[in-house]
Amino acid sequence: MITNKPTVFSGIQPSGILHVGNYLGALTQWVDLQDQSDCIFCVVDYHAITVRQEPAKLGRQILDTVKIYLASGINPAKSVIFQQSDISAHTELAWILNCIARIADLNKMTQFKEKGASKESVSVGLYDYPVLMAADILLYQTDIVPVGEDQVQHVELARTLAQRFNRDYGQVFKIPQAVIKKQGARIMGLDDPAKKMSKSASSPNNYIALTDAPEAAAKKIMRAVTDSGSEIIYEPKKKPAISNLLVTFSLLNGINIHELETRYRNKGYGEFKKDLAQEVKAFLIEFQLKYNSFSDDEVKRILQDGAAKILPVAEQTLKKVKNKLGILILSS
Ligand code: AMP
Ligand code: TRP
Repeated sequence: MITNKPTVFSGIQPSGILHVGNYLGALTQWVDLQDQSDCIFCVVDYHAITVRQEPAKLGRQILDTVKIYLASGINPAKSVIFQQSDISAHTELAWILNCIARIADLNKMTQFKEKGASKESVSVGLYDYPVLMAADILLYQTDIVPVGEDQVQHVELARTLAQRFNRDYGQVFKIPQAVIKKQGARIMGLDDPAKKMSKSASSPNNYIALTDAPEAAAKKIMRAVTDSGSEIIYEPKKKPAISNLLVTFSLLNGINIHELETRYRNKGYGEFKKDLAQEVKAFLIEFQLKYNSFSDDEVKRILQDGAAKILPVAEQTLKKVKNKLGILILSS
């Protein structure tokens, strides 16, 4: 595991729907990093339970999230894929970091406020979620954390906690760096281009799920909100809806945005959306063919192998941390 390549760590919650925003903002970036880095991709089940998950469904969701990773092009021969709860060092380090983090640090985080806004009560876990995320990242001496824009603030907290621990107890942690894509780090909702595409949106017309029926997904594109005027140009401030569709089109088929603007000059929104709908449909058909080709047993083996490979690295970091804190390690 220890090579001179940079270490990459990222994760997604197995909380149901994954959408085109997750794919374009996060997963494609993971795939691109696989060759030049030591990549570790986690299914963060303990993050998922910060809001209630149906016990009868969670196991299925965990396996399906791995299938999404695989269908996106994450190759278990190159990258480690594992389940967060399989390595108890994550929650142990999270506890220790809880004692380093300040309430004022967590009060600055915006995600729990957004996620909690519609709920009567918010779990302590949801509030503390960024500290567990910091533990995920810091356990593996991570250099690079590829994420969508909404997670950058959490990676900043991981940096703060690492620096504070190193300063107060002695050098243990590497200081990680978030990386986001130039295009696609924030794919917007199809029904409201002012908000990011999100699985927790009130309407399924907000997002294209990676498991949506291709024909239904095409219809969602046809129904997507557009801007006033009729020009197909990339101007996120003036034309947020069309700009978002242009980014999606460009990232799905590799044609750059300028070429798309030229191709659709003097053509209407209808024609543009019809073509994008076809792109999305073709993408989903191919994606789902791969997604459905993996068996549950295969996925379970990948998770077991991943955890076995990564355990010594996690244990080594945790041991260093305990030593610095002065905790006696009497067993093993
Ligand atoms: P989540 O589904 O919120 O657990 O997010 C998983 C990953 O996808 C994270 O790296 C997010 O930053 C990224 N992501 C989520 N929503 C979007 C979006 N609308 N656009 C781009 N990236 C996203
Ligand atoms: N909080 C991230 C999200 O909601 C998921 C996550 C958990 C993560 N641990 C991580 C991402 C570590 C990157 C690195 O998307």
